[in-house]
Amino acid sequence: MAEMSMNKLEGKVAIITGGASGIGEETARLFAAQGARAVVIADIQDERGRRVAESIGPNCSYIHCDVADEHQVKDMVESTVKIHGQLDIMFSNAGIISPSDQKLLDLDFSEFDRLFAVNVRGMAACVKQAARVMVQRRVRGSIVCTASVAGSKGGPKRTDYYMSKHAVIGLVRSASRQLGEHGIRVNSVSPYAVATPFMCRAYQKEEEEMEKLFEPLTCLKGTVLKAKHVADAVLFLASDDSAFISGHDLVVDGVQDSAFIPEHNLIRDGVQIGG
Ligand SMILES: NC(=O)c1ccc[n+]([C@@H]2O[C@H](COP(=O)([O-])OP(=O)(O)OC[C@H]3O[C@@H](n4cnc5c(N)ncnc54)[C@H](O)[C@@H]3O)[C@@H](O)[C@H]2O)c1
Repeated sequence: MAEMSMNKLEGKVAIITGGASGIGEETARLFAAQGARAVVIADIQDERGRRVAESIGPNCSYIHCDVADEHQVKDMVESTVKIHGQLDIMFSNAGIISPSDQKLLDLDFSEFDRLFAVNVRGMAACVKQAARVMVQRRVRGSIVCTASVAGSKGGPKRTDYYMSKHAVIGLVRSASRQLGEHGIRVNSVSPYAVATPFMCRAYQKEEEEMEKLFEPLTCLKGTVLKAKHVADAVLFLASDDSAFISGHDLVVDGVQDSAFIPEHNLIRDGVQIGG
C-alpha cells in the first residue's frame, strides 16, 4: 500500500511553469517523488531552475521559457514531447505581482500589461499549447493552473493581480468545458498566503515573519500554510485520484477568517495584509 501511494504519477510526463521557486519547486519535488517519469521545469530563472532540477535527480530537467511569449511556450511543450514522448500533466503556475501598489487611482498600465502578459496570456498559452498536444496525441491529460484566493474577491491594492487571478478562474472554467470531450481535465488551485520568495519580496519580510503575520488570519489553527500543502493539492488534481473532477477551483486557505473581511485594511506590524 505504501508503495502504491508513493507512485501516484508513475510513468507520467509533467511540465511545471514557474518551477524554479516556491510552489512550483515544491510541486516538482513532489511529482518526482511520486514516480513521474519526467518533470520539466519551465522558468526564466535559469541558474536557479537548473540547480533545482539537478537537486531533484535525473527524472527532472530545466528549460528556459518565458510564458508571456507563446512561441517559447509552444517550443517548450513540443520539445518536451519530442524528448519524453508524451505530455500528461501541465501545471501552469508561473505568476508575478507588479512592483508598485497598483491601487486603482494610480494604476500603471505598463506594469498592468506586463502582469497580464504573464498571469493571464501566459497562463492561457500554457493551457492552449498543452491541450493541443494532448488532443493530437489522444492523451487524457490533466491541466492545473495556479489561481489564488485573490481570484474570488476584490483587493485593497494590487488591482491588476486580483483581476488576473479572476481571469485564471475564467480560463479554467471555459477550458474545462471545451476540453472535456477530449477527456482532458482542467482545474485550479487557489492558495492563501504562502511565504514563498514571491510573497516575501512583496511584503519585504523574511519567511518566518510572513508566516507569523498570516497565521492569525485563518480559522484552521495549528498548521501554517506551506508550499507543500499547495503541492499536495496540485498532486491530487494532477493524478487519477481526481479522475472525475474538472472545472474545479481547489481553495487551499484553511478557511480565511471572515471576521477579517474586509481584511484588506488590516494592518499588522505596519504591513497591510491582503490576499
Ligand atoms: N505565495 C503566495 O502566497 C501565493 C498565493 C496565491 C497564489 N500564488 C500564485 O502561485 C504562483 C507561484 O508563486 P510562488 O508564490 O511560488 O512565487 P515564486 O516567485 O516563488 O515562484 C514563481 C516562479 O515563476 C517564475 N516566473 C515569473 N515570471 C515568469 C515567466 N514570464 N515565465 C516563466 N516563469 C516565470 C519565477 O521565476 C519563479 O520561479 C503564482 O502564480 C502566484 O500568483 C501565490
